[in-house]
Amino acid sequence: MCGIVGYTGRKQAAPILLEGLSRLEYRGYDSAGIAVRNADEEPVVIKAKGRLKVLSEKTNNGESVIGTCGIGHTRWATHGEPSETNAHPHVSDDMNVVGVHNGIIENYRELRERLEKRGYTFYSETDTEIAIKVVDFHYKKYKEPIKAISSAVRQMRGSYAFAIMFKDRPEEIYAARKDSPLVLGIRDDETYLASDVPAILKYTRTVYYINNDEIARLTKGDVHIYNLDEEEVYEEPVQIEWDADAAEKGGYEHFMMKEIHEQPKAVRDTLHSVIKDGKVDLSETGITDEMLKNAKELVFVACGSAYHVSMVAKYVIEDLARIPVRIDLASEFRYSRPLLKKDSLVIVISQSGETADSLAALREAKSQGIPTLGIVNVVGSSIARESNHVLYTLAGPEIAVATTKAYSAQLAACYALALALAKVNGTITDEYYDTLVQDLDSLPEKIQTILDDKERLQWFSSQYANIQDAFFIGRGIDYAISMEGSLKLKEISYVHSEAYAAGELKHGTISLIENGTLVFGIVTQQHLYEKTLSNLVEVKSRGGYICGLTNYGNFKIEETSDFTIYIPPVDSHFTTSLAVIPLQLIAYYISVSKGLDVDKPRNLAKSVTVE
Ligand code: AGP
Repeated sequence: MCGIVGYTGRKQAAPILLEGLSRLEYRGYDSAGIAVRNADEEPVVIKAKGRLKVLSEKTNNGESVIGTCGIGHTRWATHGEPSETNAHPHVSDDMNVVGVHNGIIENYRELRERLEKRGYTFYSETDTEIAIKVVDFHYKKYKEPIKAISSAVRQMRGSYAFAIMFKDRPEEIYAARKDSPLVLGIRDDETYLASDVPAILKYTRTVYYINNDEIARLTKGDVHIYNLDEEEVYEEPVQIEWDADAAEKGGYEHFMMKEIHEQPKAVRDTLHSVIKDGKVDLSETGITDEMLKNAKELVFVACGSAYHVSMVAKYVIEDLARIPVRIDLASEFRYSRPLLKKDSLVIVISQSGETADSLAALREAKSQGIPTLGIVNVVGSSIARESNHVLYTLAGPEIAVATTKAYSAQLAACYALALALAKVNGTITDEYYDTLVQDLDSLPEKIQTILDDKERLQWFSSQYANIQDAFFIGRGIDYAISMEGSLKLKEISYVHSEAYAAGELKHGTISLIENGTLVFGIVTQQHLYEKTLSNLVEVKSRGGYICGLTNYGNFKIEETSDFTIYIPPVDSHFTTSLAVIPLQLIAYYISVSKGLDVDKPRNLAKSVTVE
């Protein structure tokens, strides 16, 4: 996510802004910038692509920028490539308004069209520039910042945290938020603003959290907060007890746990980027309905967890859209002299967008003249840039090596693709399409329900922290879920684990089941329920300890399962998004109980940029 800082007080602002931004680097970014005002002079805006060091060098560590009021930003690109032009702060043409933003303005195109009709022009590809000019438009109309901001944000759909300065309001900063975090700090005659506590913890531990749909006016040593009706509201200050390291993780012990809890937002933001007014809209990727209709075979290529998403996508797309889907490990695909048809569509899934095997597979498909779609989490990454089309997942930067929120966002993207394909192929009724869209919309809150009830999983994990082996079995989508659950356990807790198609176990591997062997039985596919249950009985009769994971209401499983995890009801095509959450948590808790480095497991890298 982007990082925001702000300061108004008696000291020079630039060094404080740069220091604050450095405390937010963990959030991931690709460019940065500051805007500083010296008394009532026009703000000076300085931006740089790349690491914060570049911006610091441009400003002599802030020493060359004079002024005691300013805002700063580190950008994680969502709209528009990483570049100096797209970096924040963004300004109105007359420099009346300058601001930074963290979040996603979903209706940015509509807002831009309305502003263009009023003579506005645009220099960047960002939703933020549009948002700042919407504020400018209302400021010219109302001449009062709080009114201008409340009028502007009422027109916006999506998420935002803004820090804004107005030319005729020297030494003041205005802030507004909806769904993206903002925190204010005060000490003596100085006032601070940041996306997250670490940026201001050096200066003060007394903070105010701006709530959704609130606007704040920051002056030297004072803060006033208003609701969208411009009525002043009183917020209680909070005393921060965390240390800086804990604060970077939002109070969680590890980035992985923080990111597990960011999954509702990652799924919601990704779905909202491709579902408009109840219909899947892939137009931002450049893929048309005609292209989807002409695609007679999909070929997914990926690695690791992204490959496991491909497994789910195969089951979902083939069942809903009735077109053949092939899935390949990128490391195999690139050397297999792949046979591709002209009416294939090759889809490369990659969180980092830099995985060497996946990039090579993409290039192989392109060398054969096959259209390619990248499903990628990092704007401007190699796979994003080299794919013919890109569907961005909006999980934000993922710090922990073991992927969770990016995996969930990839699932959401693939579900949307499946619905779009089913729609153009006419393979499902409009009613079922609408039902599926509603079910997708319910995923974030259902994920949250599971996260709110994790203590029982922590207890279970504590019982099994010292296991040497574990098996995950399931059929169909449940097999794909098993693959991801097994990988999560292996990669962060170093427990040997295998995932098996439940029907395959008896063809050899069941010889490994002995008294007390832990077997996760994934049973979310109602039409396969009895079959998988019988496989669990086979395991149980050989002494296995069964952890069953199934849909709420399938209580019959408890005749076989020793410990049962239930997930909320959802269409069977989407159960992966819910079933994976308990499996992520169990792997996490076992790793923590073994005292392992959850965020940076041994031998692993976040992005495997070598073969
Ligand atoms: C999953 O937790 C691992 N980090 C790994 O399997 C990862 O999914 C794989 O390396 C692919 O990475 P990518 O999505 O960045 O291409």
